Amino acid sequence: MSALPRSLLPDNASVDDTGRLAIAGCDTLELARQFGTPLFVYDEDHIRERCRQAQAAFAGSVAYAAKAFLCLAMARLVHEEGLDLDVATGGELHVATAAGVPGERLVMHGNNKSTPELAAALDAGVGRIVVDSFDELDRLDSLYSVTGIRPQVLLRITPGVEAHTHEYVTTGVDDTKFGFTASTGVADAAIRRAEQARSVELVGLHAHIGSQVFELASFQRAVEVIAGFARPYGLPELSLGGGLGVAYVAGESAPSIAEWATAITEACAATGFDAPVSVEPGRSLVAAAAVTLYEVGTVKELAGIRTYVAVDGGMSDNPRPVLYGSGYETFLPRATDGERDRAVRVVGKHCESGDLLVREGWVPNDIRVGDILATPVTGAYGHSMGSNYNKVLRPAVVFAQGGDARLVVRRETYDDLLRNDL
Ligand SMILES: Cc1ncc(COP(=O)(O)O)c(C=O)c1O
Repeated sequence: MSALPRSLLPDNASVDDTGRLAIAGCDTLELARQFGTPLFVYDEDHIRERCRQAQAAFAGSVAYAAKAFLCLAMARLVHEEGLDLDVATGGELHVATAAGVPGERLVMHGNNKSTPELAAALDAGVGRIVVDSFDELDRLDSLYSVTGIRPQVLLRITPGVEAHTHEYVTTGVDDTKFGFTASTGVADAAIRRAEQARSVELVGLHAHIGSQVFELASFQRAVEVIAGFARPYGLPELSLGGGLGVAYVAGESAPSIAEWATAITEACAATGFDAPVSVEPGRSLVAAAAVTLYEVGTVKELAGIRTYVAVDGGMSDNPRPVLYGSGYETFLPRATDGERDRAVRVVGKHCESGDLLVREGWVPNDIRVGDILATPVTGAYGHSMGSNYNKVLRPAVVFAQGGDARLVVRRETYDDLLRNDL
């Protein structure tokens, strides 16, 4: 297997004469030594650049989907770049407001928002609530009678569009827990109710067809359905959610943010829909910005079967391979451009055979215990979906920029593991 494609590394990755990888001028082996492993290393300017690309492509109507990766530093960065923030739970709302993001720059999502979560959203003065069910409208009615606050809302519509992605991240088809179904008349009923409600001000519609979507035609189909659906109501706003896919492994290629925007704009024009469209990208802004660094603890060669390389993390810092069967590349940042001619399975340290990070990986022949091993494109839905299963400590996160690395999330400690126990 040839060397790792450079396109899978963050924008500001560089490799020195000896093959060592630096991210934004920070030597990765030195980062591993300084901050320990596992370690998420983000190229800060890569994220900023993707934010700017999105803002330029969608005329400033972009909300970052915080679920992809959220911490105080990330919320501040996104806010500095002028994006809004899509938060999907009371917890994400709490982090965003703690980071100083003003309520009006937040979009509150969630298919089962509790009354306290909705109350917190109203209290924070969120810019938009994306309403997902009649039960939520009931809860907003009750809250209005107590608070008198009448939020601006979008209704989440299920357009009945197949996104050609993993079943678990498909959200636009009729058989889904999300939103109001367009094809059955339920969405019309929801619009009529919201238009008449004193408790909410209906300003638009929302659709999100799924995540890790490569086919621009799926987004175009969603535009056709939603724009056609929205037109008779004359609602001024339309949000198309997130979902743009990214390349994770050699040979994959994904549309750029600009191509995504062009496809959506063309579809809007074709349907005669001229209201501004907003989007909520998560993965496409942060996934390729990060690599995860691990330390190799065992190299176990099972004669005639395979070689298992075990590292000091696993499904607790990247559950995507276990959840979706997602593929990743792996490489040794001491030999970034080197040939990878040894087939290995990279596994973690959890008590499950399913605990794997790279099912079919390739590394240099001389991989050994103590090596720092990296997986690229881990910036989205890794840290944010992590756990501390087996009481494995959640990794630290650093943002690298211009030769400096700043710790933005410290590593969990054993004392943290006792914090909630009584
Ligand atoms: C409503 C909504 N918006 C935006 C996103 C972000 O999607 P992605 O990270 O694929 O861009 C999601 C992800 O599931 C979502 O549910």
